[in-house]
Amino acid sequence: MAEKNALPVNVGIIMDGNGRWAKKRLLPRSAGHDAGMKRIVKLVRHAREAGIKYLTLYALSTENLSRPQEELDGLFALFRKYFEVYAPKLLSENAAVRTIGDISALPQDVAEKIAQVCSRSPRDPDFTVVFAVNYGSRAEIVRAANFAAELGGKMTEEGFARLLYTSDIPDPDLIIRTGGEIRLSNFMLWQAAYAELYFTDVLFPDFTDKHFDRALKEFAGRTRRFGKV
Ligand code: FPP
Repeated sequence: MAEKNALPVNVGIIMDGNGRWAKKRLLPRSAGHDAGMKRIVKLVRHAREAGIKYLTLYALSTENLSRPQEELDGLFALFRKYFEVYAPKLLSENAAVRTIGDISALPQDVAEKIAQVCSRSPRDPDFTVVFAVNYGSRAEIVRAANFAAELGGKMTEEGFARLLYTSDIPDPDLIIRTGGEIRLSNFMLWQAAYAELYFTDVLFPDFTDKHFDRALKEFAGRTRRFGKV
């Protein structure tokens, strides 16, 4: 049966447009990422207050890792700050912080900090923020396929989904992409099978809580059929 939706359980955000936001202001790209992180801090709080249970943020794609070292260093500095200052606050408020992707390719101190903070997440959180870091959906699927081959035998969809990074995370109901491009860019391709997609030209640093609410409102008005009539 068709379902009208009140609130998505898991909202994914492809946070695009930091570089263009900075360029418009004649600032270095790193200033766009700084502004993006400030937005993340506020959006996480807002999404939680809105009743969202999982917020999945595409923070660094596998492809992003080939950006100039100077830009990467700026991003890694932001990860350090986020996981030193902001993530522990979430943990103390019964929220969990997790990652999907291969963090082992990050500078060792950043990878260790992230792993250490995530491991302190509460067991029964009422809200979870998931950072996709050095994440690529195709690599995730191939990794799962290799696990499946090791296990042998036939795979079901449910069994395969349990081999993904997101094994215990619900599929995103809504995926928002800021910055004007209309594509998924290797983000949660398996998990997005029935996600509602929402694209906006607003650059991520300008994507306010109000813009987020607008996406939720549009989601609530859509009819999801999950392939049925
Ligand atoms: C895409 O914008 C955004 C990124 C590659 C990085 C997203 C990261 C943040 C918002 C801050 C990171 C901080 C934490 C703690 C996760 P772009 O640079 O590709 O923008 P452009 O398309 O305008 O060039």
